[in-house]
Amino acid sequence: MLLKASTLTLLLATLSTAFPNHFSSPSKTKREDTWGGSVSLGSTKSRIIKSETTIIPGLPPSKQNGMLFLWPGMSNGTGDLIQTTLEQWPDNSWCGASKTQWCVRASLFGSFGQLDGPAGVVSANDQVKIVYTRSANGKTWTQDVTNAQTGKQLSTFSHDSGHMTGWGTGTECNGGCSGTVSEQKYMNTIITLEAADPTFGNTIAKAGGASYTGLSSSEGGKVWKISSISIPPMVK
Ligand SMILES: *[C@@H]1O[C@H](CO)[C@@H](O)[C@H](O)[C@H]1NC(C)=O
Repeated sequence: MLLKASTLTLLLATLSTAFPNHFSSPSKTKREDTWGGSVSLGSTKSRIIKSETTIIPGLPPSKQNGMLFLWPGMSNGTGDLIQTTLEQWPDNSWCGASKTQWCVRASLFGSFGQLDGPAGVVSANDQVKIVYTRSANGKTWTQDVTNAQTGKQLSTFSHDSGHMTGWGTGTECNGGCSGTVSEQKYMNTIITLEAADPTFGNTIAKAGGASYTGLSSSEGGKVWKISSISIPPMVK
């Protein structure tokens, strides 16, 4: 079985980087050696009921010595971590990817370990739309991963999880990975809250040279948009 950040230590490291506001003041946020850039929002005083974003990953490193993961994640800081992940391993043939492609799969981390949906293949310039939706009864979270241009399904996964209050991107480098060599772009990120939280935008944080444009809200702070997020390559 293929595992990504499956240990508690890694899960906590993931969360502390993805949602730095939970663990340290923004001015103390430092770039860690094993992480690339990130942009995050949270915690909201309300709860997240839906998020969507479209990632264009760029070319992976020509050779991978460890494990490289690109993801938008959601959590409340201590509960389950919803994390559809673009992955590069030394050999990515497990999902059918070539050396110039990524694998992608919807994953969930929690006290049970790691649960995964089926894996799909992503090329450098593909637009991968990742939508996380909470069911009407508030219990089940569904991850839908499609090619935004063709509509083709790449992965999907549903499971019961608790409240989600933070959203963040991650560039995660494990096992002495070869770092990203391309810019990552996240387009049209939309986070919808259960109730208006006009202060949610103030929680935005960035690290590792990441930048964003077009942070805006509507419905009094219920729907939040980020037009574009840019994460620079780790290796210039
Ligand atoms: C996060 O959600 C879990 C339920 O999944 C809950 O037990 C936990 O208290 C929540 N943590 C916070 C910080 O709200």
